[in-house]
Amino acid sequence: MDLLAQGSESFIYFDQGTVIKRRIRRPFLEEILDNRLRKERTTREFNILKKIHGMLNVPKPYEKQTYEFTMEYIDGTHPKLTPEIASFIGETLQHLHSHNIIHYDLTIFNLLESDQIYIIDFGLSFYSYKLEDKAMDLLVAISEAPEYEQEILESYRDEKVLKKLEEIKKRARYVH
Ligand SMILES: Nc1ncnc2c1ncn2[C@@H]1O[C@H](COP(=O)(O)OP(=O)(O)OP(=O)(O)O)[C@@H](O)[C@H]1O
Ligand SMILES: [Mg+2]
Repeated sequence: MDLLAQGSESFIYFDQGTVIKRRIRRPFLEEILDNRLRKERTTREFNILKKIHGMLNVPKPYEKQTYEFTMEYIDGTHPKLTPEIASFIGETLQHLHSHNIIHYDLTIFNLLESDQIYIIDFGLSFYSYKLEDKAMDLLVAISEAPEYEQEILESYRDEKVLKKLEEIKKRARYVH
């Protein structure tokens, strides 16, 4: 088993052609709470992958245990942030939102490029049909790629969500 990556909340291993995403114990959190969060996030990520595999390019989920699951290994690297990738991010959010899935961390670090571009890391994802959640998802993506805001927004074609995003931005300006 080889360690592929180490995030703040999980270890990613490569084992016999598959990937294991294991949510690790965070000692600064109370144990019962941490166990609940790790369990919930594992289940949520696994279920969302199961739901959208076949509709979008995501690693195929295989098996789940309490704090870890296995999935298909994608032999790729994070793409560079270009106008094309920014448009891809906008289109992907549009597609996910049409299924009421909020990713909440759609940056180049959660994309893997091989023959195609794959979307990974649904650890913060959840289901919501609310315009506000969809707009916030866009805002997260834009804040990680501010120079390509236009490309992201142009490829996102839901006017209601875009209007909500403008509202949120205005509100933010009042606060500061
Ligand atoms: N299915 C996969 N195939 C190949 N590599 C993967 C796969 N899943 C994850 N990785 C690698 O592991 C890294 C971390 O995975 P992921 O983003 O799911 O975990 P994370 O702990 O949430 O990371 P972060 O701390 O950035 O939030 C990815 O950036 C990627 O390099
Ligand atoms: Mg990640």
